[in-house]
Amino acid sequence: MAQVIAVTNQKGGVGKTTTTINVAYNLTKAGKSVLLVDLDPQGNASSGLSVSRDKTTTRDVLSGKSSLKDAVQKTSYSKLDVLATDAELATLETEIATEKNRAIRLKEALKDAPYDVVLIDCPPSLGLLTVNALSAAHSVIIPVQTEYYALEGLGQLLETMKLVRQALNPHLAILGVVMTMHNSRTTLSSQVEEQLRANFKDRLFETVVPRNIRVAEAPSHGKPVGEYDKWSKGARAYKALSKEILERLP
Ligand SMILES: Nc1ncnc2c1ncn2[C@@H]1O[C@H](COP(=O)(O)OP(=O)(O)OP(=O)(O)O)[C@@H](O)[C@H]1O
Ligand SMILES: [Mg+2]
Repeated sequence: MAQVIAVTNQKGGVGKTTTTINVAYNLTKAGKSVLLVDLDPQGNASSGLSVSRDKTTTRDVLSGKSSLKDAVQKTSYSKLDVLATDAELATLETEIATEKNRAIRLKEALKDAPYDVVLIDCPPSLGLLTVNALSAAHSVIIPVQTEYYALEGLGQLLETMKLVRQALNPHLAILGVVMTMHNSRTTLSSQVEEQLRANFKDRLFETVVPRNIRVAEAPSHGKPVGEYDKWSKGARAYKALSKEILERLP
């Protein structure tokens, strides 16, 4: 059975999509077959891997119009498939709001998914889409940008996870917290790092992803940074992070 991992944090712009794309890519390089589910109507993960957003999408699968198998697209990278999304996904939440299985649609769709790992790129909210991701997942990866407000929303995320555990998914675990866009020169970064370590202990990944221009440029070329500039600091960090992730998987 696939290990399902949701990459989540309701704070916007903290590196969820970047982390999802680059971890997915590196896990395939380590021999795993990976499905990336783009669960964000912004569709950044889809465009970052240059898959078409005009074909069958996450929305079609969650609304029952398509099977997962028919909807996934291959990428340029072997062993890496994507379930793409488009802006239409945003209206799905209201469409299925009154349906009984609304929170477990993704879980049902991913049952028997023929991959080693499924990585879900969540939107920056704690709405029904994210709840679907948390219900479907074995664990979560939480990217955190090391800046002043970094810790503020984390309480709400942990509370949401607690509710999901109670109602839908008792074994939902934190696979890890990863510091992204880190600027090691500031005292603020080190303070945030200390606080994260105090709160998450061994769940905080050793690897810190630095702020690195190559990481930011790669999506405009439709590539993971490991393809765009293999020896950049960002590419090396995501490779190391993926190694840690593999070590934590059962
Ligand atoms: N390590 C990094 N170095 C430099 N730029 C980065 C790095 N990680 C991410 N970025 C850039 O920061 C921006 C936000 O990153 P990303 O889209 O991954 O965040 P997100 O959490 O998915 O955002 P959203 O909440 O909108 O979905 C993007 O422009 C991305 O290219
Ligand atoms: Mg994103």
